[in-house]
Amino acid sequence: MALSAKMLDFATRSSWIRKMFEEGARMKAQYGAENVYDFSLGNPDLPPPPQYLAAMTEVLAEEKPGVHGYMPNPGYPAVRKAVAAQIAKEQKVTVEETEMLMTCGAAGGLNVVMKALLDPGDEVVILAPFFVEYNFYIDNHGGVAKIVNTAADFSLDLAGIEAALSPKTKAIIINSPNNPTGQIYAREELDRLGELLGAAGRKFGTVIYLVADEPYRKIVYDGQEVPSIFQASNNAILVSSYSKDLSLAGERIGYIAVHPEVTDKMLLLGAMALANRILGFVNAPALMQRVVARLQGVTVDNAIYARRREAFCRVLSEAGYEFEPPKGAFYMFPKSPLADDAKFCGLLQEQKILAVPGRGFGMPGYFRLAFCVEDAVIERSAGAFRRAMAAAKS
Ligand SMILES: Cc1ncc(COP(=O)(O)O)c(C=O)c1O
Repeated sequence: MALSAKMLDFATRSSWIRKMFEEGARMKAQYGAENVYDFSLGNPDLPPPPQYLAAMTEVLAEEKPGVHGYMPNPGYPAVRKAVAAQIAKEQKVTVEETEMLMTCGAAGGLNVVMKALLDPGDEVVILAPFFVEYNFYIDNHGGVAKIVNTAADFSLDLAGIEAALSPKTKAIIINSPNNPTGQIYAREELDRLGELLGAAGRKFGTVIYLVADEPYRKIVYDGQEVPSIFQASNNAILVSSYSKDLSLAGERIGYIAVHPEVTDKMLLLGAMALANRILGFVNAPALMQRVVARLQGVTVDNAIYARRREAFCRVLSEAGYEFEPPKGAFYMFPKSPLADDAKFCGLLQEQKILAVPGRGFGMPGYFRLAFCVEDAVIERSAGAFRRAMAAAKS
C-alpha cells in the first residue's frame, strides 16, 4: 500500500459526517431536495451580515503597492489591534495585539497551538462528545488524545478530568458553546477547571494549558453569556474564528489569543508565529484579515437560529425525543431511542432524515442534528421524526 496506513485508518474514523453528507446528496437526487431532511452538516447557511459587503467593498478599493505582499506571520498589526480590542471586551481582560495572532480559521489555530505545545507522546485531554477533528489535530503534532466523557447533562466532569491528568499532560481542549451538544460551561465550572489544572501543574512540576475553542461564542440563546476563559485561568489560550458568527467558514479566517500572564508568553507566541509559517499557512488570508478588522462586534442574525432552535425543540419533544435544549451553537444532541445510535440513524434515514450518530463524536447512544437549514425543513420533518420514533419502539 503506497498510502499511509494511519491516514487510511483516519479516513475510516472520520467518515460519519462525510458519509451522511454523501448519502444526503444521493437521496436529494433520488427523491427531490424538498423531500429530504438533511441535518447532517454544520455549514452555516445564513448570509454574512450586510456590513460584510460594505467592508469588502472598502477593502477592495484600497488597492495599492504591496497590498498583496507577504506580511508578519501573526498578521497585519492594525488588524491584530482591532481584533485584540474586541477580545479584551469579550474576555474582560486586557489583550494587546502582540498577545494574539490571526490564523486560517479555528482549525488552523488549533493546529498552530498543538504544534507549539507538543512533543511526541505528550497528552491532551479532550471531552466527549467532541469535535472529531481534535483527535487528528493532536495526532498531527505527535500528541496523544486522552478522552474524558462529560457529565450526563454535558457539563464538565471535573473529577474525571482530574483523574486523566498526568505529568505528560500539556493541555486540555474545551469547546463552549459546544459542538455537538449546544451546551455552555458555567462560570463556576470553568473556575474550578482552572484551579484544578493549576493544582495538577504544581503537583507534577509542569504547566497545563487550558485551550478554549470558541467559534460559537456569539451564537447563544435566551440571553446566555459565554463566561470569560481568561478569568478562569492565566494559562488559557483562546482559539476562535469568524466561520460561524459571520458565516465566513470557507474564507478560513480566525485567531488565537493568550492570557496576558500566560506561562512562557513570549516563547509561546514566538512558537505559534513560527508554527503558523511552517505548517504552510504562512499567514491568515490577507483580504479577509482586512475585512474582519472592520467587522468587530458584528454577528449574523441570531434571531433566525433562535427561531429554528425553538421549532426543533418543539418538533422533537412532540415526537417523544429526550434532549437538553441547546444554550448555544446550532446543534441538537438528542438521546437515541435505540442503544445502537447508528441503527437508529438508519431508521431516521428510512424517513429521509439525515443525522450523524453520536459515536461519530465519541458518544454512542445519541445523534446530532444541525439546524443550519431553512425553518421549513424543520417544520416539515415533524412527521418523519414521529415515524422514526414509532419504528424504534416497534
Ligand atoms: C467545535 C469546532 N471547532 C473548530 C471548528 C473549525 O472551525 P473553522 O472553520 O473556523 O476552522 C469547528 C467547525 O465546525 C467546530 O465545530
